[in-house]
Amino acid sequence: MSLGIHRLWKKYFVDLVLSNYTDNEKILDIASGSGDIFNLLPISKNLYALDPVSEMHNISKKKNSSKKINYEVGYAENLPYKKNFFQIITCTYGVRNFNNRKNGFSEIYRCLKRNGYFFIMEFGIPKRDLLKSPYQNFLKYILPFTGSIISNDRHSYKYLADSIISFPNQNNLLKELINTGFSHIKTIDFISGANSIYIVQKK
Ligand SMILES: C[S@@+](CC[C@H](N)C(=O)[O-])C[C@H]1O[C@@H](n2cnc3c(N)ncnc32)[C@H](O)[C@@H]1O
Repeated sequence: MSLGIHRLWKKYFVDLVLSNYTDNEKILDIASGSGDIFNLLPISKNLYALDPVSEMHNISKKKNSSKKINYEVGYAENLPYKKNFFQIITCTYGVRNFNNRKNGFSEIYRCLKRNGYFFIMEFGIPKRDLLKSPYQNFLKYILPFTGSIISNDRHSYKYLADSIISFPNQNNLLKELINTGFSHIKTIDFISGANSIYIVQKK
């Protein structure tokens, strides 16, 4: 339903990660799902993937069979890793699903090395007034309806729409990250914030 744009965003995201990556360091992808991020990332070792749904890992294992990935079934709120372990932690379209963002962010902070980066990509509401209300209407009415026709799964698309609408705006999300201890490096918006990349660092 994104007309393939999310693939371009993921490629852009991965290129950003790569430009901040130091050779032989460890990368963790949280809410790794079916393994798209590691599939796009031209690195094949020191990769760690965490998701609560083991079936997602099974899909990723097939997709990323040439890569050495350490899979864990688990939640962002309780990471099964030592402190100061990763140089980079990524999370695409997963923060919206955290049960408790405060605990999730604290765990991510704990597991990052000093100067390590946390990269988030997440949907949001466009900031520009002209787009804001048509987009909210699209999420509320059109997305669940077309989802029910295309995939016969109104409930999932309704959840997607509701979770985007109730997600904190950029300022509030950054406040949460800064309260955890992170420094804000950069935010990159696509379509005025309908999709955004946040880069923060553990100082
Ligand atoms: C929309 S998918 C995104 C998958 C992948 N990152 C991508 O961009 O394609 C969201 C993922 O978040 C996972 N998830 C849900 N709750 C989570 C939590 N509390 N901690 C970590 N991952 C979670 C789900 O199992 C699902 O695989």
